[in-house]
Amino acid sequence: MRRKTVVSAVAAGLVAGSAYLWFGDSAPFPYSQRWMLDVPLPGLTTNRLTRVLRPTPGERMLEIGPGTGLQTLAVADQLGPAGRVDIVDIQQEMLDHVERRARHLGTVVPTLSDARELPFPPATFDAAYMVTVLGEIGDPAAVLREMTRVLKPGGRLVIGEFFDPHWIPFGRLRDYAEAEHLHIETRIGPTTAYLARLRPCTHHRYATL
Ligand SMILES: C[S@@+](CC[C@H](N)C(=O)[O-])C[C@H]1O[C@@H](n2cnc3c(N)ncnc32)[C@H](O)[C@@H]1O
Repeated sequence: MRRKTVVSAVAAGLVAGSAYLWFGDSAPFPYSQRWMLDVPLPGLTTNRLTRVLRPTPGERMLEIGPGTGLQTLAVADQLGPAGRVDIVDIQQEMLDHVERRARHLGTVVPTLSDARELPFPPATFDAAYMVTVLGEIGDPAAVLREMTRVLKPGGRLVIGEFFDPHWIPFGRLRDYAEAEHLHIETRIGPTTAYLARLRPCTHHRYATL
């Protein structure tokens, strides 16, 4: 039974991934195609995000580009009532959608904004994350810079990317990270579907993966 469930989930993910590849060439991702966002992509499940992001009860987190809230709900649940997830999206419809789904959690705060110019003071968040969003935004370096600016010292930054029309291969993320003085701490998954955790570093060096 369990095996059947896993096979179905993988098949659904592959179908969604293919549909995404086929239709998902416009940016920002169209709200009219939101059903695709509710199917976890292979390799980018919320369990895997949790492994890399390590949410702890009471933390304040920033999510860029929540879409319909697949990751938001999982993370907010783990942060508990003392925690908070600020979701930032360029489309009000996406924010409204997540707000409706997360109402019972009470710890999700939406902000309509472009990720290239975040309306938060420096050192606001314990962690920030984005899944299949970085490549969709015109200037990935500017986004990483802004996310780093609003992180508390020692804060963590998690980036998830998938092989779609806006995909950022892992090697390219490493180049952006190096330019922004971010240290890649860990990564799971192949370059076509990975989650990576980064931290601002004082030394301009990288760990061997
Ligand atoms: C492909 S969806 C990913 C949604 C969700 N993270 C997931 O994995 O299901 C990309 C999201 O990023 C948002 N987005 C695109 N460009 C943006 C920008 N410049 N600033 C903030 N959000 C943006 C889109 O509106 C959309 O909600």
